[in-house]
Amino acid sequence: MTGTSSPDRRRFLTAGAAVLGATAAAQLWLPAAARAAGTPLPENVFSLGIASGDPLPDGIVLWTRLAPDPLHGGGMPDETVPVEWEIAEDERFRRVARRGVAPARPESGHSVHADVRGLRPGRPYWYRFRAGGHLSPVGRTRTAPHRAATGGSLRIALASCQNWQHGYFTPYADMLAQDPDVVLFVGDYIYESTPSSAGPRRHEGTGEPVTLEQYRNRYAQYRSDPDLAAMHANAPWVVTFDDHEVDNDWAGEIPQDPDKQSHDAFVARLAAAFQAYYEHMPVRATAVPDGPHIQMYRRLEFGRLARLNVLDTRQFRTDQATGQEGAQDPAMTMLGARQKRWLLDGLHHSPARWNLVASQIMMAETDLLPGDGKLWYYDAWDGYQVERNALLREFADIRNPVVLSGDRHLTMISDLKEDFADPDSDVVGAEFVGTSISSNGDQDQAAFHAQWDPLKADNPHWKVIDAHRGYHLFDIRREAVDAQVRVVDTVVRPQAAASTLTRLRVENGTPGVREV
Ligand SMILES: [Fe+2]
Repeated sequence: MTGTSSPDRRRFLTAGAAVLGATAAAQLWLPAAARAAGTPLPENVFSLGIASGDPLPDGIVLWTRLAPDPLHGGGMPDETVPVEWEIAEDERFRRVARRGVAPARPESGHSVHADVRGLRPGRPYWYRFRAGGHLSPVGRTRTAPHRAATGGSLRIALASCQNWQHGYFTPYADMLAQDPDVVLFVGDYIYESTPSSAGPRRHEGTGEPVTLEQYRNRYAQYRSDPDLAAMHANAPWVVTFDDHEVDNDWAGEIPQDPDKQSHDAFVARLAAAFQAYYEHMPVRATAVPDGPHIQMYRRLEFGRLARLNVLDTRQFRTDQATGQEGAQDPAMTMLGARQKRWLLDGLHHSPARWNLVASQIMMAETDLLPGDGKLWYYDAWDGYQVERNALLREFADIRNPVVLSGDRHLTMISDLKEDFADPDSDVVGAEFVGTSISSNGDQDQAAFHAQWDPLKADNPHWKVIDAHRGYHLFDIRREAVDAQVRVVDTVVRPQAAASTLTRLRVENGTPGVREV
């Protein structure tokens, strides 16, 4: 929030995580009695890097996971290891704000989630860990603004869908240079697909992950992407999952292929997948899984500027429709009754200028049938139309709703209509579907437009559609949200050139989005 291009922040970015020197390493953080004794740990114990997330005005979650042998279960001894952490107001740790010790337990994959409080709002902090005689890289994070703060600006990067096998995560190198205050990741952090040699990189293992150790190894491989690791180390993330963190197109306790996975086997798989997800994400203890359940829908406040409602569109949904009629069945739910009440309550009683909804999947209509009639994707909100339409009717009474989505592996930026069946109905909000970091790889743009442009007449609410890999960047101020579609020229090689494909704006008090 504010000062996104201040010299301090820029200097840190150029120095990066390598800034940590021998002097810092020699410092004793804690009195000898409080320091970790125990077994010395192998080199490379911080191989998975560091991260932070879910910023509060006075707090942040600091994350790491000890894993000297990351692709083979972690390689840690079967014992709890104390991990020291400290967080400071400067990158040289001269003004330490808080320090403590967190346990890295074998049953949690030796992950560490330090939920630090007592910090000051709206400012950067630097943090690091120490375990078994080894020091982690230094990370930078940022607290949310004071609850009463009305001014300033907030820079959010929207990312989703990083398939290791489809490409390198090159958009993160550009995102790092753009220096967002917070990264919002709306799902498909890993893909559960089997290893294949068809793409530029190959998944570890021999098949789809099913057990906890297999999911751990998959997350560990993804975290080894240097651009992803650097982005985690330089800004707080707010994450939610979609389907591929578990199984393609799962819904509630129903897998993609119920004929191949029994209910019991899939419930055990959910538990393993959620446990590994928690272990690798910078989230609070509220997200510690309870068997095959995990609490992920939640709200984050950025002063009175923006309220961020993070949805869970997987755990509580009914199974996907299989035809047009099913998609219009009023019994279909995406959110479940409790989450729906929670969302509407949070939207109607919001103190914020901008009400952001992080939805894993696209909310605006996609009519795939040229001319008369409609054809929808049943996994997206189009497959749950009665609930979607009811929500959009509520949007008419909400202050500046903006939906931020993923899943589609395309940039699709739309006006949200009160009723997509009625071309004359009001625009009630805006939606940004933030393409993918790497999923689907480099696309032939001409072929994409030849296929999709003819559908624009049937989908007049679409403002931009595009098939480049990348992410969306938002500068949120009281008067407007200024958005950029940032795209890379390739994910097939580890380095790429990035550019702004287009700029858009959502004006305060004017629902919808326009290119500028
Ligand atoms: Fe995806």
